Amino acid sequence: MEVDSRDVEQRAYTGLLPEWSEVESLVEAAHRRYEADASGVVADYIPVLAQANPDWFAVSVVETNGEAHCAGDADVEFSIQSISKAFVYALVCEAYGHDVVADRIGVNNTGLPFNSVIAIELNDGHPMNPMVNAGAIATTALIPGLTPDEQWEHIASGLSAFAGRPLQVDETVYRSEAETNHRNRAIARLLESYGRIALDPLEVVDVYTRQCSLRVTAKDLAVMGATLADGGVNPVTGERVVSAGVCRDTLAILAANGAYERSGEWLFEIGLPGKSGVAGGLITVAPGKAGIGTFSPPLDVAGNSVRGQRATAYLSRVLGLNIFASHAHTLAARGRGQA
Ligand code: DON
Repeated sequence: MEVDSRDVEQRAYTGLLPEWSEVESLVEAAHRRYEADASGVVADYIPVLAQANPDWFAVSVVETNGEAHCAGDADVEFSIQSISKAFVYALVCEAYGHDVVADRIGVNNTGLPFNSVIAIELNDGHPMNPMVNAGAIATTALIPGLTPDEQWEHIASGLSAFAGRPLQVDETVYRSEAETNHRNRAIARLLESYGRIALDPLEVVDVYTRQCSLRVTAKDLAVMGATLADGGVNPVTGERVVSAGVCRDTLAILAANGAYERSGEWLFEIGLPGKSGVAGGLITVAPGKAGIGTFSPPLDVAGNSVRGQRATAYLSRVLGLNIFASHAHTLAARGRGQA
């Protein structure tokens, strides 16, 4: 993972965010620090995504008390893409519970790229986890609803509740992907051949393509992340979207699989659950504290936004978010060493 090697003092994990004004200035600092960093390549396998401006860059943090901090292009809309997988998984887990989804889809990393076909073959047709395309398509097939339209309504209203506003499909992105997604159609057919999809596979891919085309901003992603950080209650609207147990399961799956075959490096550098999308969005969740949303279209080879990862790694360190960064308690704090 291409993080910034310049030294940044790492705060220990305290369970609390610094005060509002410090978070505000560190979000602005994260944006300033990486604004001129042009590394990475804009995705073009979905043709319309190639038209994205590589200079777009937004950083947003929404605290679990609903307070927002934004820097840069935080109101520019882009398609959510693979970040939708986390929230569709959460909706399916809410409907069927911890075990059903874990058994049918799985929770383990493939060690292979997000659109790998060979990962399915290597695992006897098992879709492996809900963050790679095979597992995400199989997860979308499980969304409650008697028809694709009903399933779509469930997804659109569920993701809108996470964001706290009605999200709309980007029809241009949807059409561009629908005309070119031969690989996802092949993945769905392969899953069907293994008895892993009970519905019409092409209808399922169509709903999946729509979910990937929902338009969001970096700030929306931060609110959606803050909802997962807040045990399933949207801290801006106050609406309970999913249960606390569903959030716990979703975050564990993100930690293991959110950055695909780079998930180990992601966890090593950032120490938080997160998820990327090929349009340049990135969401990260600091449980109990905040959601972080970033947007910058240039990607690394695994399909993760380069600036987004660097800004998030910086924020994780300076805000004390890394859940593995503990300091030893002092003797005094333990109540020992006193006369
Ligand atoms: O299915 C696809 O290929 C896209 N709709 C989503 C892939 C994606 O976002 C991968 N993420 N980094």
